[in-house]
Amino acid sequence: MKLRTEICDLLGIEVPIVLAGMGGASHPELVAAVSNAGGLGILGAAICSPDELRDWIRRTRALTDKPFGVDTLLPLSVRRGATLKAAAASGPTPRERLPEYQAFAREFMEREGLTEAPPGDERRGFSKELFHQQMEVVIEEAVPVYASGLGDPGPWMERLHANGTRVMSVVGAVRHARKVAASGVDVIVAQGHDAGGHNSPIGTMALIPQVVDAAGDIPVLGAGGISDGRGVAAVLMLGARGAWVGSAFLATFEANIGEYQKKAIVEATEEGTTITRSVTGKPARYIRSKWTEAFARAGLEPLPMPWQGAVSGPVMAAAHAQERADISPGFAGQGIGMIHELRPAAQVLADLTRGAEATLATATANLG
Ligand SMILES: Cc1cc2nc3c(=O)[nH]c(=O)nc-3n(C[C@H](O)[C@H](O)[C@H](O)COP(=O)(O)O)c2cc1C
Repeated sequence: MKLRTEICDLLGIEVPIVLAGMGGASHPELVAAVSNAGGLGILGAAICSPDELRDWIRRTRALTDKPFGVDTLLPLSVRRGATLKAAAASGPTPRERLPEYQAFAREFMEREGLTEAPPGDERRGFSKELFHQQMEVVIEEAVPVYASGLGDPGPWMERLHANGTRVMSVVGAVRHARKVAASGVDVIVAQGHDAGGHNSPIGTMALIPQVVDAAGDIPVLGAGGISDGRGVAAVLMLGARGAWVGSAFLATFEANIGEYQKKAIVEATEEGTTITRSVTGKPARYIRSKWTEAFARAGLEPLPMPWQGAVSGPVMAAAHAQERADISPGFAGQGIGMIHELRPAAQVLADLTRGAEATLATATANLG
């Protein structure tokens, strides 16, 4: 029995397993390794400048002739400033509150012995302009697949489809699935609460079948907490046509994160993560750290995206420069408790595939 679904024909891949677009971590080497091994690699380009993004796309093309994708963020709140307006209506604006938060961050850095990282190392701020410039590069480069990690790619759909680009959208709620379905996406990614990174309040197990029902003819990929073949088999059982996997690919030689962060993933248990707004301003699953804990203890309501990034950015950059796993271990999902060693990405993909095939075969055998 060979693992294969119609998503393989739609995307031109051999196995229905997709490397999630993980900002910064899913870079050309990791993406090409997954695509060359028969899955679909997706560049995590959220933080890329337009020039970096173009360079990443070209480097990926030099490393593989297989399909690959680009993931960026298109959050509506940043686009329209809706969150900022809401915040302004109820008190001081995020801009007015920023100095107080930056003072908190400076005190935290002093207490932890963190010194400012060299310029250029801080997280790039998200803005409407950046999102639009990234989309122009995605369209100019006519990439095989585009995935929006937040928001609705509707405004770009016609131009993406005219290029032959397949469009995916990550959602964490049925109403978002309906919205992107109406915009004409080709694939919907249902990403549940177990997942690393920006997060849904709905558990993976409950979310996937409800998104599948709402998606109609549009194929769904299941995401959140899938770290071995049993998870891949499970999302197929829930009606998804494939899996979108993040954290399991962080524990690979090719992933573009610090070695100290890979070690933190291998050492973590299923209890090691927390949901926090202290990093980007939106709820995200992060490995519990002194920063996430200090913010929670301080009782400060995190600022909305993109303002919170201006608060956490210098802290994260300084901690990263000093390889401080106790402060910047990174985003990761609850499935990291199943990850015990670093491996080549092709090996992770092969194990996910073989594990799913074995699990599905056992399930069928159980039918008596
Ligand atoms: C380190 C990290 C960075 C992430 N960055 C992004 C991103 O930039 N865009 C996006 O759509 N999703 C991002 N995510 C979410 C992933 O795309 C994916 O949905 C998630 O990792 C799936 O859950 P899992 O980690 O349990 O496999 C990120 C996740 C992680 C762990």
